Amino acid sequence: MHLVEMNNVNRQYGSGRTLFEALHPTDFVLDRGEFIGLTGPSGSGKTTFLTILGLLQSPTQGQILVNGQDVTKMSDSEKTDLRFNKFGFVLQASNLIPFLTVNEQFKLVNKFSHSRRKKINPKELLDILDLKDVADKYPNNLSGGERQRAAIARALYNNPDIILADEPTASLDSKRAEQVVELLAQIAHNSQKAVIMITHDTRLLSATDHVYEMRDGYLRQQD
Ligand SMILES: Nc1ncnc2c1ncn2[C@@H]1O[C@H](COP(=O)(O)OP(=O)(O)OP(=O)(O)O)[C@@H](O)[C@H]1O
Ligand SMILES: [Mg+2]
Repeated sequence: MHLVEMNNVNRQYGSGRTLFEALHPTDFVLDRGEFIGLTGPSGSGKTTFLTILGLLQSPTQGQILVNGQDVTKMSDSEKTDLRFNKFGFVLQASNLIPFLTVNEQFKLVNKFSHSRRKKINPKELLDILDLKDVADKYPNNLSGGERQRAAIARALYNNPDIILADEPTASLDSKRAEQVVELLAQIAHNSQKAVIMITHDTRLLSATDHVYEMRDGYLRQQD
């Protein structure tokens, strides 16, 4: 059974004369242990694809199975539950809560997570992501790179099966970017998780197992 399976999934925006298909009908499977890279020009549909796979928005048509369960038949609250416990998101717009410090972002996850799965030690995460010195700071007082790493730490903390990262290294210097990508690769390979990373930096794609390219709403596997 695949971790995620998308069958004939598309996404249209607008209606009538403004109708626009951002994602053309797409088949895609994601398995445990896979680290997938996704590239493509701006506006080609990468975030649309990732947010549909992560159940943050519904497809216009098509079927999505997570662990063999048909998500398109689930209620909103079932989907929210699944999203919260199975997925970790690092989104383009930083998804940190502005009135919580870096450390407190983890506590919030605890409050909402029903998952009995073991959490990752927050100290370890802060250490790996070089955030120890800013653990008590609020997002507004972090640099762009620190904010991005804090968002990654929070996404990993819940120990999700599927990590969806939308340009997680965009505001990192190249050394830190490589470290973050290395960490994502380890998580995918050693803990049998699945990671999808959108990136414009083709150098980082060498750490991934498969590369997909999005062009004008068409997803194509490159290798
Ligand atoms: N909510 C929306 N309503 C209407 N159009 C949208 C919406 N979200 C995205 N689009 C359009 O769909 C297309 C794909 O957008 P998407 O955000 O998926 O691109 P992307 O590949 O992630 O681009 P980038 O690399 O700039 O982040 C774009 O033309 C965008 O303008
Ligand atoms: Mg995008």
